[in-house]
Amino acid sequence: LSDKVIAIVPAAGLARRLGEDKALVRLGALSAVERIVATCAAAGIVDVRIVRRSSATALPQGLAATCCTADTDSMIDSLRAAIAVDTPPGDASVVVWPVDHPLVGADVVTRLCAARHGGDQIVLPVCAGRPGHPILLVGAPILELLDASTSSLRDVVRRNPDRVNAVEVADSWVFRDIDEPADLRAANGYLEWLGRPATAIMRSHRSRRRYASEEVGERQIEWLVETARHCSTSSFIQSYSAVVVRDPERKNRIAELCGDQDHIRSAPVFIAICADLARIERCCRMHGRSMHVDSLEGFVEATVDASLFGQNLQLAAESEGLGSCMIGAARDHPVALAELLALPKFVYVVFGLTLGWADDDPIPRSRMPLEAILHEETYRSEGLDRHLAAADESMRSWARTTNRARSDGGKAIDERRGWTDRMAWLWGRGAPKGREKLRHELRRLGFGLESAGEHRDRRPE
Ligand SMILES: Cc1cc2nc3c(=O)[nH]c(=O)nc-3n(C[C@H](O)[C@H](O)[C@H](O)COP(=O)(O)O)c2cc1C
Repeated sequence: LSDKVIAIVPAAGLARRLGEDKALVRLGALSAVERIVATCAAAGIVDVRIVRRSSATALPQGLAATCCTADTDSMIDSLRAAIAVDTPPGDASVVVWPVDHPLVGADVVTRLCAARHGGDQIVLPVCAGRPGHPILLVGAPILELLDASTSSLRDVVRRNPDRVNAVEVADSWVFRDIDEPADLRAANGYLEWLGRPATAIMRSHRSRRRYASEEVGERQIEWLVETARHCSTSSFIQSYSAVVVRDPERKNRIAELCGDQDHIRSAPVFIAICADLARIERCCRMHGRSMHVDSLEGFVEATVDASLFGQNLQLAAESEGLGSCMIGAARDHPVALAELLALPKFVYVVFGLTLGWADDDPIPRSRMPLEAILHEETYRSEGLDRHLAAADESMRSWARTTNRARSDGGKAIDERRGWTDRMAWLWGRGAPKGREKLRHELRRLGFGLESAGEHRDRRPE
């Protein structure tokens, strides 16, 4: 097997859904083709053939690639045109790299190349169970592409599963293509945040409450939820679900149920983060038992699980440049919200998450002094008054800076009020935020909330 690898980039499609030439769309500082050529170079591939329509705009000057022409929407005709330019030597490999996968990293390509062996084969990347691109072909599959009886690359891939080598990768761009404007927005958001360590992303968190009208793509949300669900989960119960709402009327009703918060309406997406014991209840019934849902502990476990999942989801979204705000007001009317979302029994919305491309720039809120939070070996209460005074000053300072920065005439924040008096106001009344009916409503949804509860069969973790 020779080391020679040829990359073929089919880029002759009409990109009707995107409405722009996919090869030339901007992704950060580079166009899609420039990115693919640069990634090929980083992976050691120098023979790159880009297939374009004869009428297409010229490729960027100085691009280290051969341009071939094919006036077709068909991928296989594009591949044939590229191979015909200079037939690969019999033992060369071909990487088929559709132009709508421009963000795949060099490490994926290197791994595909490293995974090939001598015989006829197809090496493809798989991320989170989804096969993707680019696809590496070795030997007979290349010749099959040229055979007139073959109608698509997919036919070649599916012909014989024994010769397909799937390589597990963590790069979601192998299956996330740039097909619609939302995909392009997602790709640019991703690039903007690429390379920042998780700690830097956590430290730049701000709740966002104003959004651009651009959509958040379905596949992006699917990927974020797919990723977020890898959070820790008590006894592996996985008691969380997410309901994604885009319908303006439903969002409007949700906003009404959540204290009429207008940013829920303006966010393109609202995700209800649910504590979900419906699956566990089914398990119990399947195995002739009844679920001890009456226990407060069961409720807390499900709620903790859902919260971890929701926080993971927000962080995943922020790591791709999205903005969001958690909505605890989703507990104002749990039953009405459950009905609106058709939640089954034993499921309730712990909080919501608005999601979108943020259009505001709030001043970050600094946190309570670290010494108030971090204790060594045992809890230390001394210094509390000093920490609270610092929290008061930090709150007032944030209010002053925010008021000064607000040129849009947004509601002024009372600069005299510190953190302590706000907390006393919030917590020193009856039920917080008018949630007097919370216990009653949660019971109607199937959660008993009785004292610690007897755990008949297992010890909770
Ligand atoms: C569980 C939870 C519920 C929240 N509910 C709301 C809400 O209903 N409306 C809102 O505007 N912000 C809500 N927030 C956002 C908080 O107000 C915000 O996180 C806090 O003030 C700190 O600001 P920051 O997130 O910008 O750092 C919620 C946050 C959490 C964690």
